[in-house]
Amino acid sequence: MTFDTIIKGGTVVTASDRFCADIGICAGQIVVLADALADAPEIIDATGLLVMPGGIDSHVHLDQPGAPGIVMADNFESGTRSAAIGGNTTVLPFCLQQKGQSLRQAIAGYQAKAQGNCHTDIALHLIITDPTPHVLGQELPALIAEGYTSIKIFMTYDDMKLADKDILAVLDVARRHQALVMVHAEGYDAIRYLTDRLEHEGKTAPFFHGASRPIPVEREATHRAISFAEIVGTEAMIVHVSNRQAMEEIRRAQQRGLGIHGETCPQYLLLTEADMDRSGMEGAKYVCSPPPRDSDSQSACWEGLQQGVFEVFSSDHCPYRYEDEGGKNAPDGKRSFRYVPNGIPGIATRMPILFSEGVGKCRIDLNRFVALTSTNHAKRYGLYPRKGTIAVGSDADLVLWDPEREVVITHALLQDGCDYTPYEGLLVQGWPVRTMLRGRTVMKDGEIGSERYGLELHRPTPSENTQGCKRLA
Ligand code: URP
Ligand code: ZN
Ligand code: ZN
Repeated sequence: MTFDTIIKGGTVVTASDRFCADIGICAGQIVVLADALADAPEIIDATGLLVMPGGIDSHVHLDQPGAPGIVMADNFESGTRSAAIGGNTTVLPFCLQQKGQSLRQAIAGYQAKAQGNCHTDIALHLIITDPTPHVLGQELPALIAEGYTSIKIFMTYDDMKLADKDILAVLDVARRHQALVMVHAEGYDAIRYLTDRLEHEGKTAPFFHGASRPIPVEREATHRAISFAEIVGTEAMIVHVSNRQAMEEIRRAQQRGLGIHGETCPQYLLLTEADMDRSGMEGAKYVCSPPPRDSDSQSACWEGLQQGVFEVFSSDHCPYRYEDEGGKNAPDGKRSFRYVPNGIPGIATRMPILFSEGVGKCRIDLNRFVALTSTNHAKRYGLYPRKGTIAVGSDADLVLWDPEREVVITHALLQDGCDYTPYEGLLVQGWPVRTMLRGRTVMKDGEIGSERYGLELHRPTPSENTQGCKRLA
């Protein structure tokens, strides 16, 4: 049999197995896993490398409108470019509905921005900020039926938060139409109260961002979100969990048999509130929400990853340029943590950080690494088994990984649109040397090809999803 491409001599790793095999690729799909494949115009030598499913990052913000004067640092071109540098082949960015906008208008806007500009495949989650009767009664059910089966809602932020009654209403639509609600769990009123109090006391440096949304703010909202999902009788994903108390809320819900899922991110493993206390406005580089916490929170996030409380490890890549940080756009030139845009970059560093800190330091094994960075995302968001595994019939979305390569992370390596990385100077062991999307090399040794092959993926609708692939067992 002749193939388009053969990957020879690598160690194939999936979420469940590890074996030596060559991979035969035809028309963008894996067609054979076997020994000693020979016949192809392109033969890639993977000796000494791990061959894993391309990373899937299911929590990414690209080209998202923000506060006046604040522009997100990455569009679809630069964001997916950086994703491919970091070994990813699919990303799931959010499609933000602005107030007064229909969901269809929002999707059309994002599709226009994405089309022809992506180095990886994409699939869009919806963010609902304006849950009118028309949106919840007509648009959302129709879009779920078209495959837009994941919806993020916010319990905080002036322009995005939903009232409790609206959270319940969105959960109810998700229950009836088999979608998954992703919840940003931080309580708005408590944050407002603490922010006003801190500013009144003159505590306005970036460090006080953390004090404005302490652990109880996240724990309370996590508990409330879980309770609402239980009351409605549906599943929910609690995203970007930062600490032990929130993690334990999720664990307890899971132990009670509720369909509550958890996600954590690199910033909660590596950063702490001390990073926001760097001199001048430097701390603004670490301002995200929930904020980085303390070493016990880091340990709890590792436990959550090791014990399966967190099924996905995402970047929450939400890039703003440092140049724009620090509230230069604040009213009356006021400087306060309140005006620092929330979010940090991390799309390229997610996999190397988990590999180096997790696999390299024996906190997780290789199979869990693949599950947390790829397979579980595909399963949860309806892309499996087309994506997220190495199997006959799956897309040939692969990352060739050098487990020995030592790299000192510098922003210049990452090729995003930001002007810094929070991980500058971090030494990691293990690095992606080639990223392949549907059989085509999109990144090799840090070089990105000029073609943009990425497509928007059609996710199976709830009725098409007969393989049980949307829900994890
Ligand atoms: O600080 C963060 N995480 N900003 C991104 C938006 C979000 O809440 O995911
Ligand atoms: Zn969020
Ligand atoms: Zn986010």
